Amino acid sequence: MKIIICNSTLEMAEKVQSLILNIIKDNKQPVLGLATGSTPLLTYELLVKDYEDNKTSWKNVITFNLDEYYGLEKNHEQSYRYYMNKNLFKHINIKLENTNIPYGVGDSDLIAKRYEDLIVALGPIDLQLLGLGTNGHIGFNEPGTNFDSLTHVVQLKNQTRNDNARFFNNDPDKVPTEAITMGIKTILNCKKIVLLASGNAKAEAVYNLINSKPSTDWPCTALQKHKDITIILDQEAASLLKSN
Ligand code: F6R
Repeated sequence: MKIIICNSTLEMAEKVQSLILNIIKDNKQPVLGLATGSTPLLTYELLVKDYEDNKTSWKNVITFNLDEYYGLEKNHEQSYRYYMNKNLFKHINIKLENTNIPYGVGDSDLIAKRYEDLIVALGPIDLQLLGLGTNGHIGFNEPGTNFDSLTHVVQLKNQTRNDNARFFNNDPDKVPTEAITMGIKTILNCKKIVLLASGNAKAEAVYNLINSKPSTDWPCTALQKHKDITIILDQEAASLLKSN
C-alpha cells in the first residue's frame, strides 16, 4: 500500500491525472474504472485540460464506472451517467459506446449480472479510481458487504444518503434508497487501484482503511489485500494517521 499525502487538492488531482495518462499511453486498449462524487471532479477537469492542450487520445479507452443510483433515468441531473457525460466524456474523444455505467432503470439484478459479465469480458480494469465514503464505503459497498461480492444491488445507508443530500437540494429523502455497484471482489480484481480522499470528514475512514483489521464494518479495509494500491490524501484526510 503506497500512501501519498499532498498539500492541496490540486496536487492530489495532478498525481491521479498523471497515473491515468500513463495507463492511457501505455496500453493499446486501456480499461479505466471511474468514480463520481465530489472528490474526482478536479481530476476530470485536469484530464479535459490535458485533452485540450495535448490531445491525448481517448479513442481506444474503455471505461467502467463504479456505480449508479437505482431509479434515476440517464438524463436525470444527479444520475452518474449525466455526471460523467457532463464532467468528462463530452469534452474528450472517447466513444460513448465504450463508456459503461450500470443502467439505473429496469431489472436491477439482471443489470448487475450483465455489468459484471461485461467487466469480465472486456477487463481486467487496468486502473480503478476510488473515492471513500465517510462510513468507509468503496463504490456503494456499504458496511456489512461481503468481501466476495460482485456487482450487485445495494440499499444505501442513511449516513450515505445524508452525505449525498447536498446534491439533492439538501433533502436526504430525495436521495435514492438503492444503487447498483461493482462489488468488493470486482474492485479487488482490478490491476491497479488509486483511492482519493480529502477533508476532515474522511479522516476516520482513512484511519480505519490503513490501520484496522479487515472487517466488513469498514468495507475499505478489504483494500489491504490488494497488491497495487495507491492512496492519495490531503492533510485533513490524513490527520488521524499522524497522531497515531
Ligand atoms: C462514487 C462512489 C462513492 C464515492 C464516495 C465519496 O462513484 O462510488 O464511493 O466515491 O461516496 O464521495 P465524495 O467524493 O462525494 O465525497
